[in-house]
Amino acid sequence: MTGSRAVLSAALDRAAATIGANAAAFGPLFPDDCAIDGVYRPRPPGAGQPTGGNHGWTTGFRTGLLWLAFQRAAQPDLRRAAQRDVASFSRRIDQRIDTDTHDLGFLYSLSCVTAWQLTGDAAARRAGLRAADALLERVIEPAGVIQAWGDLSDPGQRGRTIIDSLMNTPLLWWASAVSGRPHYAAAAWRHVAQLRDHIIRPDNTTFHTFWWRTDDGRPLGGTTQQGFSDASCWARGQAWGIYGFTLNHVLSGDPSFLRAARRCADHYLDRLPADGVPYWDLVFADGCDQPRDTSAAAIAACGLAELAARVGPGDEGRRYRRAAEATAVALARHHTPVPGRANALLLHGVYDWPKGVGVDQANLWGDYFYSEALTRLTAPGWTPYWLLGPGATPAASPADTGRPVRQPVPGGDL
Ligand code: GLY
Repeated sequence: MTGSRAVLSAALDRAAATIGANAAAFGPLFPDDCAIDGVYRPRPPGAGQPTGGNHGWTTGFRTGLLWLAFQRAAQPDLRRAAQRDVASFSRRIDQRIDTDTHDLGFLYSLSCVTAWQLTGDAAARRAGLRAADALLERVIEPAGVIQAWGDLSDPGQRGRTIIDSLMNTPLLWWASAVSGRPHYAAAAWRHVAQLRDHIIRPDNTTFHTFWWRTDDGRPLGGTTQQGFSDASCWARGQAWGIYGFTLNHVLSGDPSFLRAARRCADHYLDRLPADGVPYWDLVFADGCDQPRDTSAAAIAACGLAELAARVGPGDEGRRYRRAAEATAVALARHHTPVPGRANALLLHGVYDWPKGVGVDQANLWGDYFYSEALTRLTAPGWTPYWLLGPGATPAASPADTGRPVRQPVPGGDL
């Protein structure tokens, strides 16, 4: 085992132990978006749900963490905990609790899609397809883009898209692949193509959000929500771009999405501080005293690892792979808590600096993508949950096999 492989493997063991302990401690209650000083508490009430209820955009990351830990250790209590979450996600989409959002892919890829693909849970498959239908409702014509937030009649949100949505279109590719109905994939392709053409600036930086006219579909321009300014480049947005364009390339086979991912990756790597963890906005560089965003680093590590595999074995592929590994090692060595003092996995993220929320704190998506990065870098052959589907093939050749795909399980059996 190489030095960095040993570091990552030991880090994954520690992460899996914490995920297991959290499953026991939280039971059915979902944790809050962010920890405070390394400690998560149940999420506060909201959207008509009680304390610990399933609302907001981050609850699927807890379920994804449970599946990762279960795939590593094959412990029945982890599977039961994940399946309890999946039942909660079925209820959530049935009752349309807090579903006016593009975030349905984050929520349902890591919960119901993964449940169906790993265990053959038919109710989870149905819920995943209902979530894909709800995401399709957000497509705005004639631009053919998926609205980010809010009720579709809300004039303050109408026509606004967001770079994070690139992580939500895998739900649509999956829906086409399992249902045999190509309209999900067609909507995903149109949306991603619009982001490819407009959300990346000529200098390879990205806008956080981008607006379209709703009458004639004309692109209007970009603004930020969580970045430093409209003209700056929010670090997590760039990371969503790296990983999201890469996943959409894998799922569609479209080479222009791979080029878009590389543009995002090359700018991100140019702006990385020497220690491999970005400041929360890429406008900041080495020597400043701004907080880092470890969650952006974790997402980028996953994206760079996937990109390396798609670019191939030459110098460029090796460069992305080395960057992915160096990032994961830096996170494991310098941004994880002292065991026993926290229930979070990855410290020093930034949720929303302009609003002062979750600044220099752990967050659920940082924990998830950190664990995914450790998994994918230590378990060759493991298929990311975003790419699960019949044969993990492009939805251009859909086939409803009615069967889930079972994949190799490192260190355990399903
Ligand atoms: N998707 C919301 C965020 O990255 O903060």
